[in-house]
Amino acid sequence: MTTIYPPEPFRIKVTESIRLIPREEREVKLKEAGYNLFTLKAEDVFIDLLTDSGTGAMSQEQWSAIMRGDESYAGARSFLRLKEAVEDIFGFKHFVPTHQGRAAENILSACLVKPNQWIPSNIHFDTTDANIRARGGHPTNLVIDEAYDPANLHPFKGNMDIAKLKAFITKYGREQIPFGMVTVTNNGGGGQPVSMENLKQVAQVYRENGIPFFIDAARYAENCYFIQQREAGYQNKSIKEIAREMFALADGMTMSAKKDAIVNIGGLLCVNDEKLFQNIRNELILREGFPTYGGLAGRDLDAMAVGLYEGLDESYLSYRLAQTAYLAKKLNDAGVPTIQPAGGHAVYVVANQLLPHIPNYEFPAQSLGVELYREGAIRGVEIGSVMFASLDPEDNTWHYPALELLRLTIPRRVYTQTHFDYVAETLIKIKGRASELRGYKITYAPELLRHFTAQFAPL
Ligand SMILES: Cc1ncc(COP(=O)(O)O)c(C=O)c1O
Repeated sequence: MTTIYPPEPFRIKVTESIRLIPREEREVKLKEAGYNLFTLKAEDVFIDLLTDSGTGAMSQEQWSAIMRGDESYAGARSFLRLKEAVEDIFGFKHFVPTHQGRAAENILSACLVKPNQWIPSNIHFDTTDANIRARGGHPTNLVIDEAYDPANLHPFKGNMDIAKLKAFITKYGREQIPFGMVTVTNNGGGGQPVSMENLKQVAQVYRENGIPFFIDAARYAENCYFIQQREAGYQNKSIKEIAREMFALADGMTMSAKKDAIVNIGGLLCVNDEKLFQNIRNELILREGFPTYGGLAGRDLDAMAVGLYEGLDESYLSYRLAQTAYLAKKLNDAGVPTIQPAGGHAVYVVANQLLPHIPNYEFPAQSLGVELYREGAIRGVEIGSVMFASLDPEDNTWHYPALELLRLTIPRRVYTQTHFDYVAETLIKIKGRASELRGYKITYAPELLRHFTAQFAPL
């Protein structure tokens, strides 16, 4: 893949001002936020790389679709337009819209997970993990070992380890595994893709054991583009053809449409099984809304129907993934370590390599994230021990994740080359004085998903 900055396959018609507040003010804002970047006001952030979720720029076609929104409570035309797109791209028998991805995960977990059951995936995203735990289940990550080696150049580092999956099923028994998942691309492991070959093997193992297979499809289009670029036999297939082949392997999917459907809000839950669909519908009515709007406005459904196709466009995907690779290369050329190869939606700086003097229990990636804001008003997100360390209730010890990462997540169609140059130059400056950075301690944390609201103090 090229690492030259690609010309954007669009031109800019509407702008949104951003402001770089002075350094002294940033210091005050950090203190007020308890050193949690989620707590900062967006107006105090210059370049916001917190997430690619719901932060994309919608196209003129999507804004036009918003005006077509049919706000009828039941059977709206907007729903039927979304239905046509969902059936065309994903091919499942049934679907419901949800207000976002975690709502789809919540409903799926409510319908299928019983206490003490086990749910495997390559790496569950944090909301999936938490939704399974909230029902008493045990989410388990079985990605290949290469995923934990940031320098390893495996082209499909999101792959499930098939031997680990088989051993897992033998250990816990198929009756205790209500469904299995795979996340494409693998956000928790660097936005790395999963190969079609691996998905076929996973599907076969699940099928042989009678375990329903669900894909977390948040970034399925980026994953399909990687398959087209990297996997033998797919060079001449369109992204949509690859997507159809991928979803034909599964029994259903959850999706946060805020990623590859390039909308500001929305999600999908698709299934083939009729009985499960009935249960999902009932649960949806209780928690989200009537099945033809699922917690969204009609206009949101229309924007999603258009965005699903824009997310599949090859000139867009090639620009997007080259943009990520450009930022990664600029950092790597200056010695800032990132997960290799560059993933789809984000560049993941390996904070424990940049700050080897800060132990995991003092949160090196949090420290780097705070410093990036202090130095350049840039907001990234910690994907390390703040987000993923868990307390083992049996022996009361903390288990820490293998990687301490600062994720620089790239919103879709939002920032340009000069923004990325500024981000890279700021991080390179920090690298020059990395040994001065200190760790953090947590002064408040809730039990689940603590990274959103935890408070910190510098050590
Ligand atoms: C892979 C993956 N799954 C699920 C979700 C949850 O989606 P949402 O934020 O729309 O609830 C996300 C969000 O970042 C994600 O990256």
